[in-house]
Amino acid sequence: MPTTTSSAASPRHFLDICDLDAKALRRIIDAAHAMKKAGKRVPAALRPKNIADAVLVLIFEKPSTRTRVSFDIAMRQLGGGALSLNHTDLQLGRGESVADTARVLSRYADGMMIRANSHETLVELARNATIPVINGLTDKSHPCQVMADIQTFEEHLGPIKGRTVAWVGDGNNVAVSWMHAAVRFGFTLRLACPKSLYPDDQATTWAMREKGAISIGDDPEKAVRGADCVVTDTWVSMGQSDAARRKKLLAPYAVDAALMRKATKGAIFMHCLPAYRGHEVSQDVLEGPQSVVFDEAENRLHVQKAIIAWCLGA
Ligand code: CP
Ligand code: NVA
Repeated sequence: MPTTTSSAASPRHFLDICDLDAKALRRIIDAAHAMKKAGKRVPAALRPKNIADAVLVLIFEKPSTRTRVSFDIAMRQLGGGALSLNHTDLQLGRGESVADTARVLSRYADGMMIRANSHETLVELARNATIPVINGLTDKSHPCQVMADIQTFEEHLGPIKGRTVAWVGDGNNVAVSWMHAAVRFGFTLRLACPKSLYPDDQATTWAMREKGAISIGDDPEKAVRGADCVVTDTWVSMGQSDAARRKKLLAPYAVDAALMRKATKGAIFMHCLPAYRGHEVSQDVLEGPQSVVFDEAENRLHVQKAIIAWCLGA
């Protein structure tokens, strides 16, 4: 379900894939392909105006390798600057409100990215900011990751519209962003998750209302049969404390070579990383010829340049 309503005066936030229309999302993916082609020196046509004076503040309530480093370097390659902070570096970490933090940082910076424990924090930050806010992962969604995954799919297999993606494992934050993407980019998404770990009801209700080609069941083989792409993620996301229960529930959902053989011949394997080999994915699949996981990681950099440019009005 869209998390904000935008008006002509409000900043261009990037909070969830479902908040943007198909045309804006396509523009971002096309810009990401162009950014990758251009390399480190982003051509003026792809850069937002006044980028040389722009600073993006990155706030982390949880650990990060890819998101932290790719956003920082994305800003440098665009010609601006970035400031990366853990929430405990800020007064936010000792109780200053999210709203006041948003209002203060809006006076200094040109954009904010937050990786938040709770999706509510992201929404509250955006509601009170006068500069664009980007979702760098919450408990509910991970839109920048899935935008990089769409770019990666298209590099390997061509346009994603009309194709089939299978999600196998936990119906987590990344799965929800895949659901949003399936609706907006027009592809079929088949999810196989244990019943007690089905994706968030709000995302399912939204996808059904939007008439997305999405099915949710608990049979991995059924989901994977004939798919162009198989995706999974860790069984225990950051902030979850029931690791033992999850590992038991998710053991039948491990992606291995036998499961990959049920997909189409040229199918690719995706994982947002970090991966836990021998748990959600076998070593041979992760390191095998169908795996595109390091392309996904690289594309975080390129797609985020395109997302930042969109937020800053390019
Ligand atoms: N995939 C991803 O978001 O990685 P990090 O947690 O390292 O940022
Ligand atoms: N679902 C994982 C993604 C990590 C990038 C988590 O939230 O920890």
